[in-house]
Amino acid sequence: MLQTKQQIIDKLHKELEEQAKNNKPDPYRLAYHLMPPMGLLNDPNGFIQFNGVYHLFFQWNPFATEHGSKCWGHYTSGDFVHWKPEAVALTPSDWFDRNGCYSGSAIEKDGKLIVFYTGNVKNEQGERETYQCMAVSEDGVHFEKKGPVLSLPPGYTAHFRDPKVWQHNGRWYMIIGAQSSDETGKAVLFTSTDLESWEHLGAVAGAHVNQLGDFGYMWECPDLFPLGDKDVFIVSPQGIAPDGYLYNNLYQSGYFIGKLDYINAAFTHGDFTELDRGFDFYAPQTTMDDKGRRLLFAWMGLPEENEDSHPTRENGWIHAMTLPRCLELRGDKLFQKPAEELQQLRKKKVEHKNVILDTCPQKLDGIRGTAAELLIILNEEVGPDTTFTVSIREEAEITFDSTLKRLTLSRLRFAAKTKEYRHCRLAHLNSLQIFIDTSSIEIFVNDGEEVFTARIFPDPGNDTITFAANSRLSFNVTKWDMSFVLPGN
Ligand code: FRU
Repeated sequence: MLQTKQQIIDKLHKELEEQAKNNKPDPYRLAYHLMPPMGLLNDPNGFIQFNGVYHLFFQWNPFATEHGSKCWGHYTSGDFVHWKPEAVALTPSDWFDRNGCYSGSAIEKDGKLIVFYTGNVKNEQGERETYQCMAVSEDGVHFEKKGPVLSLPPGYTAHFRDPKVWQHNGRWYMIIGAQSSDETGKAVLFTSTDLESWEHLGAVAGAHVNQLGDFGYMWECPDLFPLGDKDVFIVSPQGIAPDGYLYNNLYQSGYFIGKLDYINAAFTHGDFTELDRGFDFYAPQTTMDDKGRRLLFAWMGLPEENEDSHPTRENGWIHAMTLPRCLELRGDKLFQKPAEELQQLRKKKVEHKNVILDTCPQKLDGIRGTAAELLIILNEEVGPDTTFTVSIREEAEITFDSTLKRLTLSRLRFAAKTKEYRHCRLAHLNSLQIFIDTSSIEIFVNDGEEVFTARIFPDPGNDTITFAANSRLSFNVTKWDMSFVLPGN
């Protein structure tokens, strides 16, 4: 039975009140990462700066910790540090989105905030239908749905979703994640002058398009934008097999650098590079702000991977967003840096200069924390045949191996508590900037050359940080305690 938006909101308020009454302490509520008040959060949606305020919507199933009929939840912030929960923006209350207001994006036009999203429908035969829909807001908070603006073109299955819209030379463009009828992943481009009627330009990238061979059975959450004099195309392909250190998560998220030829609707591009080398990163979305920064949020989780064993489900919620990252292109490589506003989270600082490690593992005075930022700067090139390990809360370990030229993140599996690993090639280690939160870790390597992201569920009281090496090594380390800023933790 289709529920009206008001019915869904009433139910939501009732459950939130109920939850507030039973409010038991939850050590895994994050200090400074966005998470759902209850239920399941997944993709970032509609990320935009509108009238000077950052809006971040998110895929939200408020009523269960499983994927289901998604709403668009909504947070706003002026600084990526203080967040305000806003009214739920979209609910699955119409024939064209009855089984979920799926992912999409936002633009500003004539002072209005306009969002495009996928209406997910399961028809009476249980088959999937997909509608690309539009909704308009004057104030950035209350939305009026305009219904579908684009239907499924021939040649694709109903796995056709996640519209990302942008403007170029006075025209609007929309790129959609898709599966073509031969069950391979594609990204499909459309154009419009009025946002309401869209012309199909074709698949600009995908498996068996350009020089790519097999590259998955479905491409989700595409995002295409200029950076410097190139175009960056971010996408989350599904169905790519692990290949050595690459593609070890169930689904991938990465980018192609190239150039979109808007006249001929063709995208020439290089190879695919994963955006994150850790365990939990999916469906990233970017926007450009009034400082000219290209900013990215991603879901700090993955669909269908380990979701059953997240301990927070017992407390009625699951998943979180990554920190916002600022993108920079150097050659054909994306560098990702934590948004500089996050420095406002820093509280008490402890610093140790010229720490000399030899073969004895060390803990350093005051270098500990359950919500902390750690900046480690190596004073010299890591010598030959050396491994250097930083252990976080006895749950995660980061190891640089100078012989293998490899950086590794290991963590304990959520339920089994045995170790699992992710690696990437790294020629030199200069610095590690590590954001530790109550149940997550993000490691920015060499000023954004690589990033590793993971949820971790350590013993809540465990705040230990240990350094170890197998030969002499010198570094400086600074630690800041971080503020607990998020509503509802
Ligand atoms: C990616 C995704 C999107 C879809 C949404 C549904 O995680 O599967 O393709 O729009 O999540 O919640």
